[in-house]
Amino acid sequence: MAVRVERVSRPLRGELEVPGDKSIGHRAVILGSVARGETRITNLSAGADNSSTVAAFRRMGVGFRREGDSLCIEGGGWDGLRAPPETIDCGNSGTTMRLLTGLLAGRPFDVRLDGDGSLRSRPMKRVIEPLTRMGARVTGRDGRAPLEIHGRPLRGIEYASPVASAQVKSAVLLAGLQAQGETRFEEPYRSRDHTEIMARGFGASVESAGPRVTVRGGQELSGTRLRVPGDVSSAAFIAVAAATIPGSDVAIRAVGCNPTRSGVVEVLRAMGADIEMTRAWDEAGEPVADFRVRGGVLQGTEVQPELAPRTIDEYPVLFVAAALARGSTLFRDVGELRFKESDRIATMSLELSKMGVRTEVRGDDVTVEGAGELGSASVESHGDHRVAMALAVAGLSTRGGIALSNEECVKVSFPGFFESLGKISG
Ligand code: S3P
Repeated sequence: MAVRVERVSRPLRGELEVPGDKSIGHRAVILGSVARGETRITNLSAGADNSSTVAAFRRMGVGFRREGDSLCIEGGGWDGLRAPPETIDCGNSGTTMRLLTGLLAGRPFDVRLDGDGSLRSRPMKRVIEPLTRMGARVTGRDGRAPLEIHGRPLRGIEYASPVASAQVKSAVLLAGLQAQGETRFEEPYRSRDHTEIMARGFGASVESAGPRVTVRGGQELSGTRLRVPGDVSSAAFIAVAAATIPGSDVAIRAVGCNPTRSGVVEVLRAMGADIEMTRAWDEAGEPVADFRVRGGVLQGTEVQPELAPRTIDEYPVLFVAAALARGSTLFRDVGELRFKESDRIATMSLELSKMGVRTEVRGDDVTVEGAGELGSASVESHGDHRVAMALAVAGLSTRGGIALSNEECVKVSFPGFFESLGKISG
């Protein structure tokens, strides 16, 4: 399938909400499924990734029911999970696969996890390695899915991860909560801390200090009620669209602004964007705010390596912001982008080049040259939801619009994306 995105004829205006945060949603479903008692989640995203996690626990015997706009989980504790009758399909979701690997490594049954072509190509050694040190038996095909997990008792470890990755950290913590003794995890920079926050909400004790986290094994979790904040990673597409179209004025309501996630706001502000965050409050232990973004002309900047973990999913759309800015923007140390739903350095450079944007890749650094107005083109999502949405945002500022093929993958994280864009662009 393909969709046309036309150049906007007027500034973006209006107010909207984005779906519930995908990362936080996964954690709510996972912990609710192994907690004792009922968990009630509101504003869980209807995106395909969160649905993959729900389906996985259904197959392991966990009861789910819809009540109004909430999803209720009948948690039976750690021992409430049963061996699934067949392979669990994680779809396109790396978070589902990596977090489930950690969780299931400590359950007393065998499981096979698989996913689509993109997920099968992504590195899993990064979770297999620390889990194996904990006593887990997990095998893959050359460190990739499908993964076979032979669940068994685990022991706590001290682990210094070579990559800053919330998925690796969360896999180890989910194993650590069931292990004997204490588990200490350390990473080069602090990655998103949603697992730590969510586990505390379910009554667990988790200690964190900067990039170090410690959990004790043998902890029981209790069901809870929570509302998932709006996804800052989805809000980022709307924010870049508004920030790069002069005269725009768009409000995005109730967006999660956890400092381990909101690097995109820091980068856009460094480029001169006008982003206001107001009415701050807490949901599910996470900070939330209303965003107001006004459009103007952005300037190139240099994005430092330490921003990478808290900006990681937003680089595709920040490449678009850089392409529309004056001057060039250097994104340092973004090699992790090669291991996402697509190789995002390769896919974004290729697709932006079709619109006349010059990018230069040196090792793990990427420079994007501001091109002012972009040329019209036929572009391709490569089946990657964030590439699709980033290209659509670029399309709004092209001379003659773009044809975007394979756009249906936006349903992975933001099913109503094109409708939301339509609402503010008229
Ligand atoms: C995620 C962590 C990040 C991010 C992904 C979601 C999570 O991946 O890119 O979209 O929910 O823990 P890494 O842990 O590989 O950095």
